[in-house]
Amino acid sequence: MNKLHPSVAILTLSDKGSRGEREDLSGKLLLKFCQALNWEVKHYEILPDEKDLIAEKLIFLADHLKADLILTTGGTGVHPRDVTPDATSQVIEKEVPGLAEFIRFLSFQRTPLAALSRARTGIRGETLIINLPGSPKAIEEIFPHLTEIIEHAVRKIKGDTYECARG
Ligand code: MTE
Repeated sequence: MNKLHPSVAILTLSDKGSRGEREDLSGKLLLKFCQALNWEVKHYEILPDEKDLIAEKLIFLADHLKADLILTTGGTGVHPRDVTPDATSQVIEKEVPGLAEFIRFLSFQRTPLAALSRARTGIRGETLIINLPGSPKAIEEIFPHLTEIIEHAVRKIKGDTYECARG
């Protein structure tokens, strides 16, 4: 099976980060992980926790930039300003619930607070969108377990007919 290196957009959602009041450690960590995998990072940005702004940006990154993958970090919790999953739900055309369930399953092994992440995962056009929590610790714990799944998913989303369940 040929390896596919997805093109990636990284979006950090944080009011404080967007005002320059907090360093974006989780977004930068995702950037580092992607670069180490030779995935092409097409876009990196910090946005405030504003639902419409986030939804618009997700649409731009999927429809115009045509990123294979959008990784968001932050804003998945239950604080009134946490709206990333809501913006994501607004723009995805197909949900991939198992991926979000897998992320929470991994996270439960680290902290029961994983139950508070409302992260969503889904597809818009040919773009896979994955919400991740906002702490660098969570990124460290989750992301290395996702890379193979992401590469596989991106190939499938593009219509690859490789049969993954050949046994
Ligand atoms: N998942 C992992 N793997 N590790 C963590 O430390 N933190 C949890 C959860 N998921 C955490 C995690 C916490 S404390 C919260 S509040 C939620 O993610 C939501 O985080 P967010 O609002 O930064 O997205």
